[in-house]
Amino acid sequence: MSGYEAHFKVWRGDARGGGLEDFEVEVNEGEVVLDVIHRLQATQAPDLAVRWNCKAGKCGSCSAEINGRPRLMCMTRMSVFTPKETITVTPLRTFPVIRDLVTDVGYNYAKAREIPSFVPPPGLGPGEYRMFQEDVDRPQEFRKCIECFLCQDVCHVVRDHEDNKRAYAGPRFLMRAAELDMHPLDAAADAGLDRKRAAQEDHGLGYCNITKCCTEVCPEGIRITDNALIPLKERAVDRTYAPLVWLGSRIRRRSS
Ligand code: SF4
Ligand code: SF4
Ligand code: FES
Repeated sequence: MSGYEAHFKVWRGDARGGGLEDFEVEVNEGEVVLDVIHRLQATQAPDLAVRWNCKAGKCGSCSAEINGRPRLMCMTRMSVFTPKETITVTPLRTFPVIRDLVTDVGYNYAKAREIPSFVPPPGLGPGEYRMFQEDVDRPQEFRKCIECFLCQDVCHVVRDHEDNKRAYAGPRFLMRAAELDMHPLDAAADAGLDRKRAAQEDHGLGYCNITKCCTEVCPEGIRITDNALIPLKERAVDRTYAPLVWLGSRIRRRSS
Protein backbone atom coordinates (compact mmCIF):
# COMPACT_ATOMS: atom_id res chain seq x y z
CA MET A 1 0.00 0.00 0.00
CA SER A 2 1.32 3.48 -0.82
CA GLY A 3 1.38 6.33 1.70
CA TYR A 4 -1.76 7.58 3.42
CA GLU A 5 -2.78 9.90 6.27
CA ALA A 6 -3.65 8.11 9.51
CA HIS A 7 -5.58 9.47 12.45
CA PHE A 8 -3.62 9.09 15.68
CA LYS A 9 -4.66 9.89 19.23
CA VAL A 10 -1.62 10.19 21.47
CA TRP A 11 -1.70 10.73 25.23
CA ARG A 12 0.15 13.90 26.25
CA GLY A 13 0.72 15.03 29.80
CA ASP A 14 2.63 14.29 32.96
CA ALA A 15 2.11 13.13 36.55
CA ARG A 16 -0.31 16.00 37.15
CA GLY A 17 -2.65 14.90 34.35
CA GLY A 18 -3.15 15.00 30.62
CA GLY A 19 -5.30 13.76 27.79
CA LEU A 20 -5.44 12.46 24.23
CA GLU A 21 -4.26 14.75 21.44
CA ASP A 22 -5.35 14.25 17.81
CA PHE A 23 -2.93 14.08 14.89
CA GLU A 24 -3.25 13.43 11.16
CA VAL A 25 0.06 11.90 10.16
CA GLU A 26 1.63 10.36 7.08
CA VAL A 27 2.15 6.58 7.02
CA ASN A 28 4.31 4.76 4.47
CA GLU A 29 4.52 1.16 3.40
CA GLY A 30 6.37 -1.13 5.81
CA GLU A 31 6.24 1.24 8.78
CA VAL A 32 5.60 0.40 12.41
CA VAL A 33 3.85 2.52 15.05
CA LEU A 34 7.21 3.79 16.35
CA ASP A 35 8.03 5.19 12.88
CA VAL A 36 4.83 7.21 12.99
CA ILE A 37 5.53 8.45 16.51
CA HIS A 38 8.99 9.55 15.31
CA ARG A 39 7.37 11.35 12.37
CA LEU A 40 5.11 13.17 14.82
CA GLN A 41 8.19 14.24 16.78
CA ALA A 42 9.87 15.42 13.58
CA THR A 43 6.92 17.34 12.19
CA GLN A 44 4.17 18.26 14.64
CA ALA A 45 5.14 17.50 18.26
CA PRO A 46 8.90 17.98 18.77
CA ASP A 47 8.54 17.74 22.55
CA LEU A 48 6.64 14.43 22.50
CA ALA A 49 8.37 12.14 25.04
CA VAL A 50 8.88 8.53 24.00
CA ARG A 51 11.38 5.89 25.15
CA TRP A 52 13.04 3.61 22.60
CA ASN A 53 16.45 2.23 21.72
CA CYS A 54 16.81 -0.69 19.34
CA LYS A 55 13.77 -0.51 17.05
CA ALA A 56 14.18 -4.28 16.70
CA GLY A 57 12.09 -5.74 19.52
CA LYS A 58 15.12 -6.47 21.67
CA CYS A 59 15.69 -3.66 24.18
CA GLY A 60 12.20 -3.66 25.69
CA SER A 61 12.04 0.16 25.92
CA CYS A 62 9.22 1.13 23.58
CA SER A 63 6.37 -0.50 25.51
CA ALA A 64 3.05 1.34 25.32
CA GLU A 65 -0.66 0.60 24.95
CA ILE A 66 -1.89 0.67 21.38
CA ASN A 67 -5.67 0.72 21.08
CA GLY A 68 -5.70 -0.40 24.71
CA ARG A 69 -3.43 -3.41 24.25
CA PRO A 70 0.09 -3.51 25.75
CA ARG A 71 2.54 -3.80 22.84
CA LEU A 72 6.00 -2.83 21.63
CA MET A 73 5.64 0.19 19.33
CA CYS A 74 8.58 -0.94 17.21
CA MET A 75 7.05 -4.36 16.57
CA THR A 76 3.52 -3.23 15.80
CA ARG A 77 3.16 -2.94 12.05
CA MET A 78 0.88 -0.25 10.70
CA SER A 79 -0.43 -2.84 8.25
CA VAL A 80 -2.40 -4.54 11.05
CA PHE A 81 -4.69 -1.49 11.09
CA THR A 82 -6.96 -0.31 8.31
CA PRO A 83 -6.15 3.18 6.94
CA LYS A 84 -9.46 4.50 8.31
CA GLU A 85 -8.87 3.16 11.81
CA THR A 86 -8.03 5.60 14.62
CA ILE A 87 -4.90 4.48 16.41
CA THR A 88 -4.67 5.38 20.07
CA VAL A 89 -1.30 5.32 21.79
CA THR A 90 -1.19 5.68 25.56
CA PRO A 91 1.48 5.06 28.22
CA LEU A 92 1.58 1.82 30.22
CA ARG A 93 -1.32 2.14 32.64
CA THR A 94 0.17 0.23 35.57
CA PHE A 95 3.17 2.51 36.10
CA PRO A 96 3.30 6.22 36.98
CA VAL A 97 3.57 8.58 34.02
CA ILE A 98 6.69 10.70 33.79
CA ARG A 99 5.75 12.47 30.57
CA ASP A 100 3.65 11.60 27.50
CA LEU A 101 4.44 7.97 26.61
CA VAL A 102 7.23 7.54 29.15
CA THR A 103 6.45 5.83 32.45
CA ASP A 104 8.47 5.19 35.58
CA VAL A 105 9.07 1.42 35.57
CA GLY A 106 11.05 1.52 38.83
CA TYR A 107 8.56 -0.87 40.45
CA ASN A 108 10.01 -3.60 38.27
CA TYR A 109 13.61 -2.88 39.24
CA ALA A 110 12.63 -2.90 42.92
CA LYS A 111 10.94 -6.30 42.46
CA ALA A 112 13.97 -7.64 40.57
CA ARG A 113 16.16 -6.79 43.54
CA GLU A 114 13.87 -8.69 45.90
CA ILE A 115 14.39 -12.07 44.16
CA PRO A 116 17.52 -13.66 45.67
CA SER A 117 20.02 -14.46 42.95
CA PHE A 118 21.53 -17.86 42.04
CA VAL A 119 23.47 -19.44 44.91
CA PRO A 120 26.56 -21.22 43.51
CA PRO A 121 26.96 -24.86 44.56
CA PRO A 122 29.70 -25.27 47.21
CA GLY A 123 32.83 -27.09 46.13
CA LEU A 124 32.40 -26.50 42.38
CA GLY A 125 34.48 -23.97 40.53
CA PRO A 126 33.83 -22.22 37.22
CA GLY A 127 33.80 -24.80 34.41
CA GLU A 128 32.91 -27.65 36.77
CA TYR A 129 29.13 -27.29 36.62
CA ARG A 130 27.42 -30.30 34.98
CA MET A 131 23.72 -30.41 34.12
CA PHE A 132 21.39 -32.56 32.04
CA GLN A 133 20.58 -30.97 28.70
CA GLU A 134 16.86 -30.91 29.57
CA ASP A 135 17.67 -28.83 32.67
CA VAL A 136 19.55 -26.42 30.42
CA ASP A 137 16.78 -26.29 27.83
CA ARG A 138 13.87 -25.66 30.18
CA PRO A 139 14.84 -22.21 31.53
CA GLN A 140 16.22 -21.16 28.15
CA GLU A 141 12.72 -19.98 27.23
CA PHE A 142 12.66 -17.63 30.25
CA ARG A 143 16.05 -16.21 29.27
CA LYS A 144 14.48 -14.74 26.13
CA CYS A 145 12.84 -12.07 28.32
CA ILE A 146 13.67 -8.55 27.09
CA GLU A 147 12.24 -6.88 30.22
CA CYS A 148 9.68 -4.87 28.34
CA PHE A 149 7.33 -5.21 31.34
CA LEU A 150 4.26 -5.63 29.15
CA CYS A 151 3.33 -8.68 31.25
CA GLN A 152 3.74 -6.65 34.43
CA ASP A 153 1.55 -3.92 32.91
CA VAL A 154 -1.29 -6.22 31.89
CA CYS A 155 -1.45 -8.34 35.04
CA HIS A 156 -4.72 -7.37 36.72
CA VAL A 157 -3.29 -8.03 40.19
CA VAL A 158 -1.42 -4.73 40.03
CA ARG A 159 -3.09 -3.06 37.03
CA ASP A 160 -6.31 -2.55 38.95
CA HIS A 161 -4.96 -2.67 42.49
CA GLU A 162 -2.14 -0.29 43.25
CA ASP A 163 -2.10 -1.57 46.85
CA ASN A 164 -0.95 -5.01 45.70
CA LYS A 165 2.34 -3.67 44.35
CA ARG A 166 3.99 -3.94 47.74
CA ALA A 167 3.28 -7.67 48.11
CA TYR A 168 3.32 -8.84 44.50
CA ALA A 169 6.36 -9.32 42.27
CA GLY A 170 4.38 -9.81 39.03
CA PRO A 171 4.74 -12.43 36.28
CA ARG A 172 8.20 -11.42 35.07
CA PHE A 173 9.76 -11.84 38.51
CA LEU A 174 7.74 -14.87 39.58
CA MET A 175 9.08 -16.41 36.38
CA ARG A 176 12.58 -15.55 37.59
CA ALA A 177 11.79 -17.23 40.93
CA ALA A 178 10.54 -20.31 39.02
CA GLU A 179 13.67 -20.39 36.87
CA LEU A 180 15.94 -20.38 39.91
CA ASP A 181 13.79 -22.90 41.76
CA MET A 182 14.08 -25.38 38.88
CA HIS A 183 17.86 -24.88 38.57
CA PRO A 184 19.46 -28.19 39.59
CA LEU A 185 22.68 -26.56 40.84
CA ASP A 186 21.13 -23.73 42.81
CA ALA A 187 22.25 -24.15 46.42
CA ALA A 188 19.73 -21.75 47.94
CA ALA A 189 18.28 -24.47 50.19
CA ASP A 190 21.73 -25.18 51.66
CA ALA A 191 21.99 -21.49 52.41
CA GLY A 192 18.66 -21.63 54.29
CA LEU A 193 16.58 -20.07 51.54
CA ASP A 194 13.36 -21.84 50.55
CA ARG A 195 12.51 -20.40 47.14
CA LYS A 196 9.02 -21.93 47.07
CA ARG A 197 8.14 -20.47 50.44
CA ALA A 198 9.59 -17.13 49.39
CA ALA A 199 7.55 -17.15 46.16
CA GLN A 200 4.36 -17.73 48.15
CA GLU A 201 4.98 -15.59 51.18
CA ASP A 202 7.32 -12.84 50.00
CA HIS A 203 6.55 -12.42 46.29
CA GLY A 204 2.77 -13.01 46.20
CA LEU A 205 2.54 -16.12 44.02
CA GLY A 206 -0.92 -16.83 45.47
CA TYR A 207 -2.30 -13.60 43.95
CA CYS A 208 -1.86 -15.01 40.44
CA ASN A 209 -5.03 -16.74 39.33
CA ILE A 210 -3.54 -18.01 36.04
CA THR A 211 -5.63 -15.89 33.68
CA LYS A 212 -2.72 -16.06 31.18
CA CYS A 213 -3.05 -12.39 30.12
CA CYS A 214 0.70 -12.04 30.73
CA THR A 215 1.44 -14.84 28.27
CA GLU A 216 -0.86 -13.28 25.66
CA VAL A 217 1.06 -9.98 25.54
CA CYS A 218 4.63 -11.30 25.78
CA PRO A 219 6.44 -10.23 22.57
CA GLU A 220 8.94 -13.08 23.01
CA GLY A 221 6.16 -15.67 23.09
CA ILE A 222 7.28 -16.97 26.49
CA ARG A 223 4.64 -19.25 28.00
CA ILE A 224 4.92 -17.51 31.34
CA THR A 225 1.84 -19.04 32.92
CA ASP A 226 2.07 -22.62 31.64
CA ASN A 227 5.82 -23.10 31.91
CA ALA A 228 6.79 -20.96 34.90
CA LEU A 229 3.91 -19.90 37.14
CA ILE A 230 1.78 -23.04 37.14
CA PRO A 231 4.76 -25.39 37.75
CA LEU A 232 5.97 -23.10 40.55
CA LYS A 233 2.49 -23.13 42.10
CA GLU A 234 2.41 -26.92 41.87
CA ARG A 235 5.79 -27.28 43.53
CA ALA A 236 4.86 -24.79 46.25
CA VAL A 237 1.67 -26.76 46.98
CA ASP A 238 3.57 -30.08 46.98
CA ARG A 239 5.96 -28.62 49.51
CA THR A 240 3.14 -27.45 51.75
CA TYR A 241 1.04 -30.60 51.67
CA ALA A 242 3.49 -33.48 51.18
CA PRO A 243 3.27 -35.23 54.60
CA LEU A 244 7.02 -35.77 55.02
CA VAL A 245 7.86 -32.21 54.02
CA TRP A 246 5.20 -30.95 56.42
CA LEU A 247 6.51 -33.16 59.24
CA GLY A 248 10.09 -32.09 58.52
CA SER A 249 9.20 -28.41 58.64
CA ARG A 250 7.34 -28.93 61.96
CA ILE A 251 10.33 -30.69 63.47
CA ARG A 252 12.70 -28.01 62.22
CA ARG A 253 10.48 -25.30 63.65
CA ARG A 254 10.30 -27.04 67.07
CA SER A 255 14.01 -27.63 67.29
CA SER A 256 14.70 -24.00 66.45
S1 SF4 B 1 -1.57 -15.46 34.78
FE1 SF4 B 1 -1.08 -14.63 36.80
S2 SF4 B 1 0.70 -13.32 36.45
FE2 SF4 B 1 -0.25 -13.71 34.43
S3 SF4 B 1 -1.64 -11.98 34.11
FE3 SF4 B 1 -2.85 -13.64 35.05
S4 SF4 B 1 -2.77 -13.22 37.26
FE4 SF4 B 1 -1.13 -12.02 36.31
S1 SF4 C 1 8.25 -12.07 30.14
FE1 SF4 C 1 7.73 -11.29 28.07
S2 SF4 C 1 6.26 -9.62 28.47
FE2 SF4 C 1 7.28 -10.06 30.41
S3 SF4 C 1 8.97 -8.63 30.53
FE3 SF4 C 1 9.79 -10.52 29.62
S4 SF4 C 1 9.58 -10.26 27.41
FE4 SF4 C 1 8.31 -8.69 28.35
S1 FES D 1 12.80 0.05 20.54
FE1 FES D 1 13.73 -1.71 21.47
S2 FES D 1 12.07 -3.06 21.77
FE2 FES D 1 11.20 -1.41 20.70
